[in-house]
Amino acid sequence: MILDGRSPDAIAAAVRALSAGELLGLPTETVYGLAADAASDAAVAKIFAAKGRPSNHPLIVHVAEASGAAHFAASVPDFAHKLIDAFWPGPLTLILPRRAGVVTAAAGGQDSIGLRCPSHPVAQAVLRACAAQGLHGLAAPSANAFGRVSPTTAAHVQAEFGDGLLVLDGGACDVGIESTIIDCTRGAPVLLRPGGISRAQVEAACGQALRSKDELAAPDPRASGTLEAHYAPRTPLLMLPRAALESEARQQGALGKRVAILGVGTIPAGSRGLALPEDAQSYAHGLYAALRQLDAGGQQLLLVERPPEDPAWLAVQDRLRRAAAGAEADDDSP
Ligand code: TXA
Ligand code: MG
Repeated sequence: MILDGRSPDAIAAAVRALSAGELLGLPTETVYGLAADAASDAAVAKIFAAKGRPSNHPLIVHVAEASGAAHFAASVPDFAHKLIDAFWPGPLTLILPRRAGVVTAAAGGQDSIGLRCPSHPVAQAVLRACAAQGLHGLAAPSANAFGRVSPTTAAHVQAEFGDGLLVLDGGACDVGIESTIIDCTRGAPVLLRPGGISRAQVEAACGQALRSKDELAAPDPRASGTLEAHYAPRTPLLMLPRAALESEARQQGALGKRVAILGVGTIPAGSRGLALPEDAQSYAHGLYAALRQLDAGGQQLLLVERPPEDPAWLAVQDRLRRAAAGAEADDDSP
């Protein structure tokens, strides 16, 4: 059931469901989440079951405000404090050492915890109402089946999980792709997943260079968002430079394949498909809805124009690369 997230009654219904150990489709500024009381192992188990996600893959715990982090983090390094001050509430997740004994199931059994304070007004309303009842964190992965495209509207969530799930409608997500994830457990900030907040923004706020996963290795972080085959549409997807789109489409069409193109700015005249805007933020905002739309159109191949090689496009490049890898993996499966 979808309820208007601006209605106080809907917020109250959502908090009742969460308190009773049920799941909720929750809008955030990045993507919609599938939320549950992070402190309830039984509720968290429902998330893993609904998504078909392995239960040792850690979930992000969402808090109403920065002070909420104290419930879950054992310690917060200086540079992480700076990031919290600069970007919370907002599309930034921090991996911090976990306080012993709290939200073990949500953390997938790891001794760290992913924390995020979302800015979306509906998420804020739910988190604050929950906190007032002593429920200090909501575990919420993106509200899609494991490995599939994340949802950016309430209707997308319903399409994934059916009408039995309570979903709060908060409109189309502003950012449109998942939060930036910074690992703060390795002595220096490490970028685990590029997202709505850029590398440059993070580095400016904490006054340090971001390190890569390879530079500062950690033992098996089991981050499913970092698997190669993730965020994948069902239709096989090929990334190509602009100049190759038209001839590839013609060639595949001649072989009898139904082909659609996802372009930057425009698509070649006479071809089927759609275009997303030429600036990286607007492109990201529309990306998952576009992939879902093209995926539903009965195509046999999606040709995606390679986005510009520019730092502003890092997060989009990351998601498209994984979508292409996921589509190939699907192609090979029996
Ligand atoms: O924007 C977002 O972050 C959305 C919205 C709903 O908040 N959530 C989201 O959650 O993308 P999910 O579960 O689809 O992706 C969370 C990522 C995964 O790659 C997970 O493995 C990683 O965060 N993660 C969570 N806790 C972690 C931890 N303790 N250590 C390493 N990675 C962690
Ligand atoms: Mg996800």
